[in-house]
Amino acid sequence: MKLRRLLPHEGPASARLIHAALDTWYRRNLNSAKFGDAWEPFQVIPDTYEALDPGCCVVAEDADGSLLGHAFYHPRPTHVGVGIVATHPNAGGRGIARAMLEEIIRVADGLPLRLVSSAMNLDSFSLYTKLGFVPHETYQDLTLEIPAEGLPGNFPGVRPAQLTDVPAMSDLEFRLSGLRREHDFHFFLQSHDAPWRVMILENAGGEMLGFLAASTHPACPMLGPGIAIDESTAATLIHACLHHHFKGRTPIWLVPVSATQLVRQAYVWGARNVELHLASTLGTHPPVTGIVLPTFLPESG
Ligand SMILES: CC(C)(COP(=O)(O)OP(=O)(O)OC[C@H]1O[C@@H](n2cnc3c(N)ncnc32)[C@H](O)[C@@H]1OP(=O)(O)O)[C@@H](O)C(=O)NCCC(=O)NCCS
Repeated sequence: MKLRRLLPHEGPASARLIHAALDTWYRRNLNSAKFGDAWEPFQVIPDTYEALDPGCCVVAEDADGSLLGHAFYHPRPTHVGVGIVATHPNAGGRGIARAMLEEIIRVADGLPLRLVSSAMNLDSFSLYTKLGFVPHETYQDLTLEIPAEGLPGNFPGVRPAQLTDVPAMSDLEFRLSGLRREHDFHFFLQSHDAPWRVMILENAGGEMLGFLAASTHPACPMLGPGIAIDESTAATLIHACLHHHFKGRTPIWLVPVSATQLVRQAYVWGARNVELHLASTLGTHPPVTGIVLPTFLPESG
């Protein structure tokens, strides 16, 4: 096995690998076919990540040049986000994921590594905790079919974000969770035809209380990343985002299990739990004073 970086033309090979790894693992272990038979929708992952963080995917290559596994990483000023990590189903249990993560730990050069992984997957849980990652928050993955007319309600103080909001978004996230990733916010906001939407909630004095990004990509309708000063702000942002950007669709979003009001509100809307995830850190985990809303795309937080 040789470690190298993913090459720009290997997007389809990456998408096939991610689909094979997830689909096989969920069918074998959870009797679930939720990832479907097609690998093409997974192309959104290498496409997004090569645009966001070019050259930041460690590949494990077999002697014949085929991909045994790969692990994307997202270097940021305060930390390195990790994900998605995938080993080909025929190559599991041979230390491939460990080797790829050890390479990312080397590249991180002392910065904390952060990731979100399924709490229903003992293989990834074991992989990460054996490397020293410590779970610090549990999330419930919620989903809801949004009616064609959207959700009832109004959303005072919510507006679409603009590029000029990026420094304040970055400062808010740093203040509430110790992370900085302006690069992601620029990426979301720089192109009008991209699938990203970002909303901001301000108080009457124009002070930013929270923001929430979302992917409206057909292969990944998902809310996040976002952060809010409290549960009520987070609930308003989620509500507004579901209403404005997901009419007639069935998106997913993650909510901290400890955010009891937010969880209760999601149940009032009719949301259903579909999975559980753990947010883990290798290294220093700064104190969190807000409500953090992570996502699987991009896994930069
Ligand atoms: C999770 C996944 C990446 C693991 O890949 P892998 O190449 O088989 O993992 P490795 O062989 O490098 O490492 C597995 C480690 O977990 C350990 N392990 C596995 N099950 C364990 C258990 N129940 N208890 C303790 N340790 C366990 C292994 O011993 C090994 O540790 P070691 O290196 O110290 O011996 C792979 O199963 C996969 O691609 N799954 C589907 C996609 C996915 O879920 N990705 C993670 C998204 S967050």
